[in-house]
Amino acid sequence: MGDMLPPMRELYPNPADDVDPVERYAADDRSSPAGERPWVLINMIATVDGATAIHGRSGTLGGPADKAVFSAIRAVADVILVGAGTVRAESYGTPRTPPGKDEPPRLAIVTRSLEIDPAGRVFAEAPPGRRPIVVTTERSDASRRAALAGVADILVAGVDDVDLTQTLTALRQQGARVVLCEGGPSLNGHLVAAGALDEICVSVAPLLAGGSSPRLAHGDAAPDVVPMRLDRALEADNMIFLRYVRNRSVSAASAPSTS
Ligand SMILES: NC(=O)c1ccc[n+]([C@@H]2O[C@H](COP(=O)([O-])OP(=O)(O)OC[C@H]3O[C@@H](n4cnc5c(N)ncnc54)[C@H](OP(=O)(O)O)[C@@H]3O)[C@@H](O)[C@H]2O)c1
Repeated sequence: MGDMLPPMRELYPNPADDVDPVERYAADDRSSPAGERPWVLINMIATVDGATAIHGRSGTLGGPADKAVFSAIRAVADVILVGAGTVRAESYGTPRTPPGKDEPPRLAIVTRSLEIDPAGRVFAEAPPGRRPIVVTTERSDASRRAALAGVADILVAGVDDVDLTQTLTALRQQGARVVLCEGGPSLNGHLVAAGALDEICVSVAPLLAGGSSPRLAHGDAAPDVVPMRLDRALEADNMIFLRYVRNRSVSAASAPSTS
């Protein structure tokens, strides 16, 4: 761990000082759920009062401890799924190859509009053989699709909206076992509504932002509330790093209804 990294403690389930987030996240069981999709997790940061961005960016919410956890979680992913809104807001670059791995996770960008610059960093910096996947709809603009096909692999899933169940099945068929969604809130909302989520990692930042920033997952309510179970809580530098996994021992029917 780097010198700048504040000591990280595990609060739950096994209280301990000086834990290594890379080791902790790598040791988690993410065997694929039943069916044809990969294990799907979301990783997001939010302030104590629930803001996911300040002035439209999330970068100012974290610090060195959050960066360490962010990288540790990226290291378990085969594919990073991200909404085009986040790519535009955060000037996304290429994920790095995690220590001990041969290649970086592949980026998959979800977009209906295809309004992503083909000359952008996200495409220009991709290593050979790891160019990003652009996931779009049948009705998306043909000329924009052709322009992006020069720098990305195009995956068409769904007619008006990207069908995330179809997308995840296609990614599994391409070999992805773990798909990490890095937001933003609208894409997360679609994933929750599709019922396609196994794990959510939340970094709670010691800040109060007020404002009207969206929640971690934003959009149409899920048909059923998804019961989750607290798996781990780490702490460093006044931040809390929560890992919740789907609680398969509680049926959705016994959870509160969304209607
Ligand atoms: N706190 C955090 O950890 C965190 C993480 C990520 C982002 N953020 C913040 O969140 C904000 C961006 O989030 P956002 O919710 O506005 O955007 P987003 O979820 O990143 O992207 C939304 C866009 O993704 C595409 N999209 C998502 N689901 C789709 C579907 N089912 N079918 C077709 N297209 C779909 C659409 O792209 P097109 O518009 O191209 O059609 C849509 O406009 C930024 O402020 C960013 O800083 C925070």
